Amino acid sequence: MALSKDFLWGGATAANQAEGGVLEGGRGLSNVDLLPTGPDRSKIAAGELEMLEWQEGYYYPAKAAIDMYHRYMEDIELFAELGFKVYRMSLSWSRIFPNGDDNEPNEEGLAFYEGIFKKLKEHGIEPLVTIAHFDVPVHLIKTYGGWKNRQLVDFYTQYATTVLTRFKEYVTYWLTINEINILLHQPFVGGGIIFKEGDNRQEIKYQAAHHQLVASALVTKAAHAINPENKVGCMLAGGSHYPYTCRPEDYQEAINRDREGYFFIDVQARGKYPNYALKKFEREGLNIQMAEDDAEILAASPVDFVTFSYYCSRTVSGTPEDYAQATGNLFPSIKNEYLPSTEWGWQIDPLGLRNSLNQLYDRYQKPLFIVENGLGAIDEPDENGYVADDYRIDYLRKHIQAFKDAVEIDGVELLGYTTWGCIDLVAASTGQMSKRYGFVYVDRDDEGNGTLNRTKKKSFDWYKKVIASNGEQL
Ligand code: BG6
Repeated sequence: MALSKDFLWGGATAANQAEGGVLEGGRGLSNVDLLPTGPDRSKIAAGELEMLEWQEGYYYPAKAAIDMYHRYMEDIELFAELGFKVYRMSLSWSRIFPNGDDNEPNEEGLAFYEGIFKKLKEHGIEPLVTIAHFDVPVHLIKTYGGWKNRQLVDFYTQYATTVLTRFKEYVTYWLTINEINILLHQPFVGGGIIFKEGDNRQEIKYQAAHHQLVASALVTKAAHAINPENKVGCMLAGGSHYPYTCRPEDYQEAINRDREGYFFIDVQARGKYPNYALKKFEREGLNIQMAEDDAEILAASPVDFVTFSYYCSRTVSGTPEDYAQATGNLFPSIKNEYLPSTEWGWQIDPLGLRNSLNQLYDRYQKPLFIVENGLGAIDEPDENGYVADDYRIDYLRKHIQAFKDAVEIDGVELLGYTTWGCIDLVAASTGQMSKRYGFVYVDRDDEGNGTLNRTKKKSFDWYKKVIASNGEQL
């Protein structure tokens, strides 16, 4: 079975990493606007250091990002030239509800996105819209403490219902929350959470997770009611865990680490808490407040499809000493000697993508969608500004072959594939521009210098052929 002729080929970006224009058009401040480059970024992202205002002495790359706010027409023209069938993007919550708890949405923010959807429609490109991609209005953090507060369920539902209604004629593919499991690793990024001394951090994180899961189910229900054609997906930061050795303890650790992520998708796709999570809450004394009808809400509205990001696999061990060899991943991982690494220490593993697809399909039996994949690398433009990024082509070629094998040999149901950062944008983990993923080079550096001009890389023509041949010409 070859890829279906309706296979959705495309690329992905997120508002906070691409738009800029953070105080334009009536937009309010959001958590991700306050992540600077430099050593404090990871502490802020983890909720260990408070940053709720812009401060002197820091550089905040999201302020201007790649200025898609003013340049989306040009960017969408490039996506159309690539032959995109789908463009994954996110909406900025604080562009639509500047404070998050406003009574009325910001019309200018809605009009901005309507402009994007009209332009996509003109080119026959299907939008795949993430409602919240690392995005919490700062006012909701200052006033309510972010997602640890149950009231966020209402604010998020109001925001989501507004966009579902307003953009009904343009969008049918929706994702509720980007990489929902990031909440456990970067609680400020994933949930606008800042810890205080003495907090029970695990309890706060799982309480916030519960609120997001309930909100996601409510929005899935609303989406189906607003337009029965709507298809709603969940989104996992994917990449399976390998046991470092065949010691049973290492295998057990790999299962447990996979479950940290699957926990969210188990609830969103199956509609109820898995037993291993309930047992964990009990064992660790985590007191998670659940309202009386929450179980019913979760059960009533599982997602229609399961999406995930995939960059690398990870290797874990039951023995702490083995971590002496750990690599630079957000999720602690031991260096896997069988795999090469990127310049940022992410281990390149195309077969891991095929295996992940199989694991997810076996587990959920729902259509899948790879909504992020790609190589973050340093590009060196020549004197004409051209980047010969054969390394990126090589990475993508192998990963595309791997998902084709999952579909054609293993029979996995896959709706589409959007590469991450189809145009260069700000890296989420480091805030760097120099960690580039795009088919289109953006002239901007890590300090905010550059013309912001767009130039096609070698991979641009390559991906165009891949799409035109429906993945036959790699
Ligand atoms: C995912 C996110 O974590 O990975 C994206 O959904 C992010 O927002 C991407 O950009 C790649 O990570 P990074 O740190 O290289 O940008």
